[in-house]
Amino acid sequence: MTSARILGTGSFLPERVVSNAELALTVDTSDEWIVSRTGIRERRIVAAGETTCDLAERAARQALDAAGCLASDIDLVIVATTTPDRVFPGTACLLQERLGIHGPAAFDVQAVCTGFVYALGIAEKFIRTGSARRALVVGAETMSRIVDWKDRSTCVLFGDGAGAVVVGMSDEAGILSSHLHADGAYKELLTATGGVSSRGTGLHGGEGLITMRGNEVFRMAVTTLDALVGETLAANDLKQSDIRWLVPHQANIRIIAATAKRLGMAMDQVIVTVDRHGNTSAASIPLAFDAGVRDGRIQRGDVVLMEAFGGGFTWGSVLLRY
Ligand code: UT7
Repeated sequence: MTSARILGTGSFLPERVVSNAELALTVDTSDEWIVSRTGIRERRIVAAGETTCDLAERAARQALDAAGCLASDIDLVIVATTTPDRVFPGTACLLQERLGIHGPAAFDVQAVCTGFVYALGIAEKFIRTGSARRALVVGAETMSRIVDWKDRSTCVLFGDGAGAVVVGMSDEAGILSSHLHADGAYKELLTATGGVSSRGTGLHGGEGLITMRGNEVFRMAVTTLDALVGETLAANDLKQSDIRWLVPHQANIRIIAATAKRLGMAMDQVIVTVDRHGNTSAASIPLAFDAGVRDGRIQRGDVVLMEAFGGGFTWGSVLLRY
């Protein structure tokens, strides 16, 4: 049976590193508080004029190289982002143009931190049903543009970056299952208001910036991810010990550790980038996955669980054999 397999990965981070100590110069916080509550030590922030599509392009080109593919081989482009360059066209169309791809479907997915998992789940269905042969799936964000830099409870958490994968048709097992969920009843707990339809003219003094009831989000994330892991294992008739690598959304090391514990995994089976990247929303999983592939930890044939939870709430997992 045809399967959708990851053929290559790539990622890109903006040059500027912002440490916790630097943030402590502008808001009432400390390296000690940020590290102990979140695990974050630093994050990358885009330069003036640098956009989500700029990051996406760099990550996409690296993934194409790693897959040994030309842009002309790609017949589906999906970009998961909450921070698009324009209201429209979608960032996927902007990226497609930069890569010189003309004609195939290209669209954005907006599921905040779960965006990449949604995008990969969608790409898998296109490929498995024969609607696409090779998909470029990107998670790219410039969260720094919607962070309230005066709010210490959120500004220390987020960062910018992009990760990408090329997914292709294969006779070998690849993506084994995806599990996508959402519940909009929780929309107020983690949000950025000021959308064009409600405000009419985009961002206005404070509107459009991230607000979060962190503690409530934290508790929901831990219990929801616990159930999601159970659902994913059961759907594949697998045991905890069958999973070689956990590639989680990187929001908080304490949430990641709780999921690893649920899986009976040691932390050395978890790809952790939150310390260096912070929370890059839809970019965090492909950034972490690429890190694990490039440093040789994730090997061909390994069973990998990706999972995410974020604004919406949205949550989801992808289980795959790399
Ligand atoms: O990616 C999408 C999903 N997002 C998440 O999963 C994030 C989930 N939430 C979290 O990761 C955590 O809730 C946070 C890291 C955001 C906060 O950690 P917490 O342990 O839940 O802290 P808290 O919000 O309960 O705040 C504890 C204290 C408060 O002070 P009081 O009221 O106890 O005096 C805050 O005002 O910490 C204070 N505080 C800070 N202190 C220093 C909040 N932010 C900071 C800060 N520096 N940056």
